[in-house]
Amino acid sequence: MQNSFMQNSFKELVEGIVAKHHSFLRRELPLITDMLSTLSTHCNHDAQISEAEQIFKKVRSKIETHLFDEETSLFPTGIALESGTRPPDCEMDLLARVEEMEKEHENCGNALGKIAQMVGTAPASELRDRVVNSIRLVRDDLDIHVEKENTQVHPRFIELVGASVSAK
Ligand SMILES: [Fe+2]
Ligand SMILES: [Fe+2]
Repeated sequence: MQNSFMQNSFKELVEGIVAKHHSFLRRELPLITDMLSTLSTHCNHDAQISEAEQIFKKVRSKIETHLFDEETSLFPTGIALESGTRPPDCEMDLLARVEEMEKEHENCGNALGKIAQMVGTAPASELRDRVVNSIRLVRDDLDIHVEKENTQVHPRFIELVGASVSAK
């Protein structure tokens, strides 16, 4: 039986985020890429839809790098610091990366909203509505994901780094 402290451990928190939100993004982002490409073809590569497709490509790549950095550097370092084991070697300044990640959280949400709006200008079709709906679902899930990271993961991480520095 786990106590409430264990339920709120950094490890459980980030593992929950990866299992729920990161896997959702990994499933949905490629589907949206495919749907946008089909929609663009159906719209004879209309300038606005092609631009939405290009912006989405950049946002997807930003998100994928972001998830990679969390899963390979930020989260394992926090887990190691919490359990008192040696953190993995890491080239980047993780406190600076956390700050940058909070900006990325905001920028990605805004960009997805803009893309959904642009796609909404395409002629009415079942595919158009499916794309807009999928982008909105991703953005809604991102809101919950980002809220957990900004208000729980990042402050806990900063605290763990601070405690490890003062213990030296
Ligand atoms: Fe994340
Ligand atoms: Fe994040």
